[in-house]
Amino acid sequence: MESPFKADILKGKVALLTGGGSGIGFEISTQFGKHGASIAIMGRRKTVLDHAVSALNSLGISAVGFEGDVRKREDAERVVEATVKHFGKLDILVNAAAGNFLVPAEDLSPNGFKTVMDIDSVGTFTMCREALKYLKKDGAGRSSSSGGFILNISATLHYTASWYQIHVSAAKAAVDALTRNLALEWGTDYDIRVNGIAPGPIGDTAGLSKLLPKEINNKIREYLPLYKVGEKWDIAMAAVYLASDAGKYINGTSLIVDGGLWLSAPRY
Ligand code: HXC
Repeated sequence: MESPFKADILKGKVALLTGGGSGIGFEISTQFGKHGASIAIMGRRKTVLDHAVSALNSLGISAVGFEGDVRKREDAERVVEATVKHFGKLDILVNAAAGNFLVPAEDLSPNGFKTVMDIDSVGTFTMCREALKYLKKDGAGRSSSSGGFILNISATLHYTASWYQIHVSAAKAAVDALTRNLALEWGTDYDIRVNGIAPGPIGDTAGLSKLLPKEINNKIREYLPLYKVGEKWDIAMAAVYLASDAGKYINGTSLIVDGGLWLSAPRY
């Protein structure tokens, strides 16, 4: 689907995306690139990175991939540094890396719980912290009158309670808290905007195929106010909007992009 935004609204920006090589993260990489940004992708799997970078390059987007695990502080530091070395600066950080699996709470080991917290919550904090010095107004290579931008990909499952998702609910609740607290501290001190997006069920993603068995996946449409699952494009357009100057007064918000699902209840 064509973007409703002008193709140059992110022109000259440099964006680093964790988990930017697949799923929702890759669609954000693509749309940021199509709107003028240069793209650095961080991920654990080299084959995924290589494939994503060549796909972006074939669209004429300047892109580079760096192997790394957000759970390792040294990887976070190395990849942020490598991005700035490659493109000369950093304007946008997107935290899209996430881990997930369905498991009843009583069968989840503390290490399983910790693993998802480490990827989603601690990983997001680590990346933000390593990127901070470059996102400041006077960060290396930046000549901007405003600070940079951070986008954290969250979820809606912790707004209520979700079956077999205690670890992810806790992790995404923490991500939302990071978004608000960093928006307050770094917005005040450095003019850096920090926002989130909370996607609902998005078609053609690991999240949907892994977390919703096909029969439920087909049935879910009956419960959706808009009667359809979302597209990765919907999340990416929200990301482009928030990252662009159109969103310059939006700070500390987690934008729900779920077609209204989280507030819906069965019809009676
Ligand atoms: C129970 C499990 C488990 C499972 C792992 N564990 N998978 N427990 N059921 N299916 C436990 C392990 O037993 C272990 O604890 C601990 O978690 C670490 O497991 P490892 O396999 O060693 O971890 P690792 O190799 O680092 O893998 C991380 C992962 C994996 C999260 C477990 O699934 C992963 O990386 N997946 C790819 C990313 C992904 O899932 N993307 C989709 C995101 S969708 P013990 O105690 O045995 O040592 C998404 C949507 C959210 O985020 C919103 C939804 C609406």
